[in-house]
Amino acid sequence: MICFNEKNKTFHLTGKRFSYIFYVNAAGFLQNVHYGAKVEEGDIAYLIAHRAKSHAPNPDSMNCDMALNEMPSEFSPYGRGDYREPTAIVLRRDGARMSRLRYVSHKIFDGVPEVKGMPHARGGGRTLAVTLKDDCSSLETILHYTVWDESDVLVRNAEYVNAGKESVVLEKAYSFCCDLPEGDYSLLRLWGHWARERYPETVPLGHGVTRLQSLRGASSHQMNPFTALLAKDCAEEHGECYGVQLIYSGSFALTAEKSPVDTVRLQGGIQDIGFSMQLGGGETFVTPQAMLTYSDEGTGGMSRSIHDFIREQIVRPDCVYRRRPILVNNWEATYFDFDNEKLFAIIDEAARLGIDTFVLDDGWFGKRNDDRSGLGDWFVNENKLQGGLKTVIDRCKKNGLKFGLWFEPEMISEDSDLYRAHPDLAIKKEGVKPVCGRHQLVLDFTRKEIVDHVFGVVSKVLRENDISYVKWDMNRNITEVYSAALPPEKQGEFMHRYILGVYDLAERLTAAFPHVFFEGCAGGGGRFDAGSLYYFPQFWTSDDTDAYERTKIQWGTSYAYPLSAMSCHVSVCPNHQTQRSTPFETRGVIASLGATGYELDLSKMSQEDKEKTKAQIAAYKEIDELVLKGDLYRLSNPFENNYFCEMLVSKDKNKAYVAGERAHGCPCDYDKTLRLYGLDEKKIYFIRELDITASGKALCTAGLNFPRLPDFGGWVWHVEEVH
Ligand code: DGJ
Repeated sequence: MICFNEKNKTFHLTGKRFSYIFYVNAAGFLQNVHYGAKVEEGDIAYLIAHRAKSHAPNPDSMNCDMALNEMPSEFSPYGRGDYREPTAIVLRRDGARMSRLRYVSHKIFDGVPEVKGMPHARGGGRTLAVTLKDDCSSLETILHYTVWDESDVLVRNAEYVNAGKESVVLEKAYSFCCDLPEGDYSLLRLWGHWARERYPETVPLGHGVTRLQSLRGASSHQMNPFTALLAKDCAEEHGECYGVQLIYSGSFALTAEKSPVDTVRLQGGIQDIGFSMQLGGGETFVTPQAMLTYSDEGTGGMSRSIHDFIREQIVRPDCVYRRRPILVNNWEATYFDFDNEKLFAIIDEAARLGIDTFVLDDGWFGKRNDDRSGLGDWFVNENKLQGGLKTVIDRCKKNGLKFGLWFEPEMISEDSDLYRAHPDLAIKKEGVKPVCGRHQLVLDFTRKEIVDHVFGVVSKVLRENDISYVKWDMNRNITEVYSAALPPEKQGEFMHRYILGVYDLAERLTAAFPHVFFEGCAGGGGRFDAGSLYYFPQFWTSDDTDAYERTKIQWGTSYAYPLSAMSCHVSVCPNHQTQRSTPFETRGVIASLGATGYELDLSKMSQEDKEKTKAQIAAYKEIDELVLKGDLYRLSNPFENNYFCEMLVSKDKNKAYVAGERAHGCPCDYDKTLRLYGLDEKKIYFIRELDITASGKALCTAGLNFPRLPDFGGWVWHVEEVH
């Protein structure tokens, strides 16, 4: 709900459990008064009157203007008395950079504002659009706020309009700015690396600027475009916190600035380093949306609100709750070294084990027998696959399996027919030897004709073959940020234009082939963000499939993304990434906490493991609805405890699934209490594996003991209401 109080010029936005309140002060600046627990309309009137007195800047008085530096602002300009980080910087033709934006007007309307060419919240809700005007340049900024009655997520973005005739240059154009009152906050971030994505790290927020960012042209393995500010008492299931994440997959920045008076400015959007955007007279630039989530039920409550929002508003509605295919992928089974016979053996076995889909990974096209060649040549390598894709697809069909195929659409190998014919398609600058990553270059997706070309060749493969699943990979980041097709004054737009090219291709492919399920991948989880999830309902979480490492990666990822978005596979032991051996059962348990699948040579499995696989698949089909729709409770943190444990509870609280792993043998740690969460206190539940019947209240307060297990032992409990 959004209300505007004409008398004190206050905007009151509410979601399910939060209020976001700001007002237009006497000088026309937007001042935030409250972002937190829901209050009634009018409850805050006293505070506004109080603030209006103490924060009444007189725009004609030098000293009072400096009060801007202390005010909780909704948009922070540059060079006019607020010395904190600005939300935007605008450069005028005469070289001046200074601005101060004041309220002009506002509109309140149903639905989500248009964010053309970028992923965004899909609809419903109510939007407030506030127009501010710069008193130093022709810049106008429209701040958008969208809220939903049933959600604790507030979506914001900013639209920059050059209302004059002369062009201006945006040197920084963030999506939002939110000033929180003084507090002793901690900052949660998800940092990482290849094979170790989204490790959570919570640090006290010190004074000055804390900056999370990517300069890579992708949201990155290294830092996810998500952060949360946690109030002093915030824990997993109690206390206040604010989550922020971008619906964006390119280079980004998120900053938290703690002022000398302990207030905190949270803002972010498109990475400003290397960015500039020229706006001609009358031109507009729309920034990516940011999701702001308030929780007074700790980080667990925050994650559940985010998960619901991503499922309801971001993921393709036709796929989000659709039962996911249980697949086998040949990557770790064969790498590049396969032929018809090797694939047929996997396919035949997959059918016997109850797997739905066979996915053919890298190496089926061009002359690609290792990672040095072939990218861009999207036609089948018949020397490797005699009879082409058709023979593999026919084999799948004969076995009742569906077929999926790997592409890396954004890339080109120097050793490829495409590159030999059109070396100009790659991102590079004449006279500068391009930096190679994984022996490959990146196609210049800022150029529409290149995106059109890729759309054409990928579409041809999808049209001519019966393909139900695509794995869209991306294995290197961008260097030599430059497009030969852009004029000098537009080179600063390169990174943003690149990701718009990626979105354009994803939009067109998903629209042209609605029956195809697209999985995202980026050398593991290097572009796992809310922007990607708009096109790819699930994303390859990490190349690290080790069942112990995965507890940490999946735990960290779950702060900002639902389990249904995480692809999780059972692979062989010793694990290819860590050389660790874990029991087959445990690998299945951990892979069940997401979109499950297999990543090994099924034909080489022991009979015993084959029987276990059949059982795992049957067991997964019993709980996959909880993975798709359930509420997640993180019970035992593998970064802090010897046990990892997560729990999924159905929305009606009739059913739950507890899954966990014990890392190492450790004397008596199983005597510790494991409290369940999220059950209905009044209901009686039966835990199948323990033969225990108890009330939800008892299970969530007195709890249970952890199970006694050997090293890397996994377990599950099925919890069901007794009628
Ligand atoms: C990186 C991905 O994460 C892997 O799953 C696999 O598809 C390889 N690329 C193929 O090159």
